[in-house]
Amino acid sequence: MPSNQPDRYGVIGYPVSHSRSPYIHQLFAKQTDQDIQYDLIEVPPYILKRKIQEFMEEGGKGLNITLPHKSAVAAYVDDMSARAVTAGAVNTLVCRDSVLYGDNTDGAGLVTDLENNQGFSIRGAKILILGAGGATRGIIGPLLQAHACSIVIANRTFQKAIDLADCFKKLGTVTASEIRALTSKNSFNLIINATSAGLKGGAWLYPPSIVNTDALCYDLSYSATPTPFMEWASRAGAAKSLMGWGMLVEQAAESFFIWRGIQPDTKQVLEQLTGNTA
Ligand code: ATR
Repeated sequence: MPSNQPDRYGVIGYPVSHSRSPYIHQLFAKQTDQDIQYDLIEVPPYILKRKIQEFMEEGGKGLNITLPHKSAVAAYVDDMSARAVTAGAVNTLVCRDSVLYGDNTDGAGLVTDLENNQGFSIRGAKILILGAGGATRGIIGPLLQAHACSIVIANRTFQKAIDLADCFKKLGTVTASEIRALTSKNSFNLIINATSAGLKGGAWLYPPSIVNTDALCYDLSYSATPTPFMEWASRAGAAKSLMGWGMLVEQAAESFFIWRGIQPDTKQVLEQLTGNTA
């Protein structure tokens, strides 16, 4: 029997109250005339699987998954996209006929923001990624697919950079570097901060000499004011430093497209989001 209730979606995280996803998806829905409900769902790790099952049994259509659950959820799905397998993480779930399908739109969100919103061409770019955790793992595959020339991973714990580079070396030129071996002589076109340093604090170990004046410096984190990484990059002479609001909106748009089959206008939503945040 057809229901008059809106289709249900939500974002699961722990904590999750800070998430802007409900706001973004409501804007997408309004813009594209879709009748949906999108909720914040705070779930601690020990009941994650049960909560996802309950959501499905109650007729929920799809979920976004955020920290700290992105890797854990990969073990619960019935099927998964190739990009989610490569990322080792899931940020989008589709619930259809009791089958749970996992995808990952984070890397695609970054690529779309860089290429469509920032006018940066990934093709042929020499990229340096700072950090070797889940965020780094999620973006390497899509950057290589967008024809990056090379990716260097530098991390406080060098061995983690080596292990990650090993995972990806069959897909492209991905190498690990010790932080102290980095210099501006490497002439990176794009430097991405994928560390959690801004959130967790601690000393920042990367020397400003790695920044070329024409490098684009991109922080995957975002906040209402310029992030510590952006300020560091500007002090180091970077012509342009950005944070990840565009990636946030673009990954959401990709999830929305997977769920609803409609591509929302992200520029409008990004303006509303950052206008309301600044
Ligand atoms: P995420 O899933 O968000 O990537 P993570 O897996 O905890 O989170 O990884 C966090 C990354 O930030 C790691 O690469 C971490 O370095 P270590 O592997 O040496 O722990 C990096 N990181 C955190 N704080 C940092 C700091 N103050 N300076 C440099 N790197 C930092």
